[in-house]
Amino acid sequence: MATSGMLQEDALKGKTIIISGGGTGLGKAMGKYCLQLGANLIITSRKMDVLTESAKELEGETGGKVLAVACDIRNYEQIEQVIKHGEDKFGRIDAVLNNAAGNFISPTERLSHRAFDIVVDIVLRGTYNFTLAAGKNWIAKKQQGNFLNIVTTYAWTGSGYVVPSACAKAGVLALTRSLAVEWAKYGIRSNAIAPGPFPTEGAWSRLLPGELVKKFDPALRVPLKRVGEHQELANLAAYLLSDYSGYINGEVVTIDGGEWLMGAGEFSNLEEVKPEMWDMLENMRKK
Ligand code: HXC
Ligand code: NAP
Repeated sequence: MATSGMLQEDALKGKTIIISGGGTGLGKAMGKYCLQLGANLIITSRKMDVLTESAKELEGETGGKVLAVACDIRNYEQIEQVIKHGEDKFGRIDAVLNNAAGNFISPTERLSHRAFDIVVDIVLRGTYNFTLAAGKNWIAKKQQGNFLNIVTTYAWTGSGYVVPSACAKAGVLALTRSLAVEWAKYGIRSNAIAPGPFPTEGAWSRLLPGELVKKFDPALRVPLKRVGEHQELANLAAYLLSDYSGYINGEVVTIDGGEWLMGAGEFSNLEEVKPEMWDMLENMRKK
């Protein structure tokens, strides 16, 4: 497995990228690699203390420039302020990485309508808010732009026990594909990444709390029998944010070690059949 950066040194030089949820987990990992490739970064989420700490750490590790701005992406006006602060500091915004999310596991019948709202509002409303604010700004300024949206593989399969998240991520995928066509005429690309399991504090503490992580080891559901490395996702994200992917538009790239197809294939669970059993079946067939 490759855990080093794959793009050439200055692949994102001069680009300014906003990452929602960029102070933690996967957003932070993708942001770090963007900085290493020469980008300026704007990280935003609700917790200013987390953002400030991460910005300091990222600048120290990479020598790049990071602007931290607090914002609840459910609030359109706050997003407009993030864009304004970003332009004041760096001159222009080149890309938005819609990464922030909220999620928890629960049988759907146990959810209150407020619980459903809270996840859909962060994931879907937050993403279309950012998309609309940045898109209008780029179109008005006749500037090219690039959206990269983080979804999940259950955006198209659906999934029990995370139903608000599944509904919202499906909406984000539809948004990605719709605008890839509609806004291409303005030079705005829209793509998505669907990650499989990549350990982060945020996801693991909410989706595999307590003993669940031992009982439902996510690596065992993956044909490659391992979880993802953050750098593997960062490599893909940086490529999609760079001009090297300039002809990719409207795509969703899955990076899950084959996990979702494993669940989809009718006979994939025959993996459990032992070699002796295959020998027996072969002998029966030959007879
Ligand atoms: C049922 C729940 C609940 C749970 C909260 N609620 N947790 N219901 N089961 N586990 C209900 C509450 O009762 C309340 O409804 C409503 O949701 C809002 O509750 P709050 O207490 O206000 O919310 P809180 O629990 O503080 O925060 C929820 C959240 C939080 C905003 C979603 O978890 C958060 O900040 N998340 C951001 C980070 C995150 O989730 N990262 C993981 C992304 S991972 P009532 O009716 O009582 O008011 C991901 C990966 C997917 O998406 C794929 C993995 C392979
Ligand atoms: P994470 O660290 O919990 O990231 C979620 C981020 O969203 C946090 O930084 C959080 O910061 C921010 N956020 C939440 N609500 C917000 C709001 N209302 N306004 C602004 N920011 C908000 O989890 P992660 O695992 O890195 O997840 C990152 C992305 O990857 C998500 O889109 C997730 O669905 C996706 N994903 C993850 C996995 C995985 O295995 N980890 C798999 C598939 C997809 P604040 O709390 O400070 O607001």
